[in-house]
Amino acid sequence: MEELELIKNADTRASNYLSKIEERRVFPSTSDINALDGFIEPLSEKGRPASETLGLMDKLGSPATVASNGPNYFGFVIGATLPVSAASERLALAWDQCASSFDGGPSAAVLEQQAAKWVLDILDLPRQSAVGFGTSATACGLACLSAARSSLLASLGWDFENDGLIGAPEIKVVVPDTAHITVKKALRILGFGLNRIIYAPTDGYGRVDPAQLPVMDKHTILCLQAGEVNTGEFDQFDKIIPIAKNAGAWVHVDGAFGLWARASKNSEHLTLDIDGADSWTTDGHKWLNTPYDGAIAICRDKDALARAMNSDAAYSTASADAQKNLSLEFSRRARGIPIWAALRTLGKDGVADMVDQHIRQAQYVASELQNTGYTVLNRVVLNQVLVRANTDEATQNIIEAAQNSGRVWFGETVWQNHPAFRISVSSWRTKDTHIEQLVKVLEELYHQEN
Ligand SMILES: Cc1ncc(COP(=O)(O)O)c(C=O)c1O
Repeated sequence: MEELELIKNADTRASNYLSKIEERRVFPSTSDINALDGFIEPLSEKGRPASETLGLMDKLGSPATVASNGPNYFGFVIGATLPVSAASERLALAWDQCASSFDGGPSAAVLEQQAAKWVLDILDLPRQSAVGFGTSATACGLACLSAARSSLLASLGWDFENDGLIGAPEIKVVVPDTAHITVKKALRILGFGLNRIIYAPTDGYGRVDPAQLPVMDKHTILCLQAGEVNTGEFDQFDKIIPIAKNAGAWVHVDGAFGLWARASKNSEHLTLDIDGADSWTTDGHKWLNTPYDGAIAICRDKDALARAMNSDAAYSTASADAQKNLSLEFSRRARGIPIWAALRTLGKDGVADMVDQHIRQAQYVASELQNTGYTVLNRVVLNQVLVRANTDEATQNIIEAAQNSGRVWFGETVWQNHPAFRISVSSWRTKDTHIEQLVKVLEELYHQEN
């Protein structure tokens, strides 16, 4: 049957790709990128054979990928994909369930319910919370922040869902001055306006300074961070959340990658009392190493999220915990399935081991680079190492040379007005030998510049 042949063909190509993932250039060569011009063709009138379409995708597309699913990619904290999560996704694609609710796919709904319970268990967050599986931390953050606003307005006697914003009491938002751009994006989309955001000053580590917290009240949403994008630092939840809660504020935590630190006993100190917040977002597709797009919105008041995200219609009603009523999407893939597969296969210990390993590896990279002569700009509490060479020019040359080498890849950033680079250790495939290779590449480049 042509369909099955085609799926087998895709699986063979995927297996070939993965079997060479370690040897691939981490960023593709210029000639492989130039060959992408082969995709530029007129839309055919009569279509073409499916196998030829797949063949073209593989022939031109596979060589021009970034090997972020490999062990030598250290950019953006994006992790690789665990085999079981990738495999479960493949099976779920064959099911092609419209996982809006139980009616669209009973098995998908039950698997996502189970994944939701495990997420609350492993992250040790309030067990009654609603858990929505969405496309990204951006989208899940937006869902949580809209629940936050609606809930604060309800407590001020305003029915946001029906009466909207015109004439509503003003809600103010406080975010760390190091807040991730996507938190600001979500706030902008929700209509808060970037000029109206109140920035909480941060200390030298990039954490909100509890002594300089802006005044908060029952009109306030406070956003905190578990894992600052450059340094991996955590806000001091045990000091800040009680102040915010006493003032009547809603506390939301962006933990796109850092929330997974909570899975390891060794990192417990980073997230002390984080469970006192009202909502949290995290990604599966970053540190848990599940495929895109798999993210999680968690809201202590399950009715608040279900009210904000409700999409029931006469032809499509469902329970309050149906995923279409907890996330932005209506028609949707069951994004919780690869997360379920990862958690079931790794177990609590497996996730903790992965977290511990990456933190240990990041700390090793930091100390080796420091010995070489680099300046490490953060104190490496997590899987992020923020680095600078002796001059801005040398830093930039090293980033460029490393990226062009094809042996490793990490990204650039700006820290305190100077260029720096970020090394993120987040792939389950990264063994100590890959870390040694990264250090070696950086040592060579340092000596070329000095
Ligand atoms: C701290 C932080 N928050 C939010 C995001 C946004 O996550 P996503 O790409 O899943 O929308 C990211 C990274 O992308 C991040 O590092």
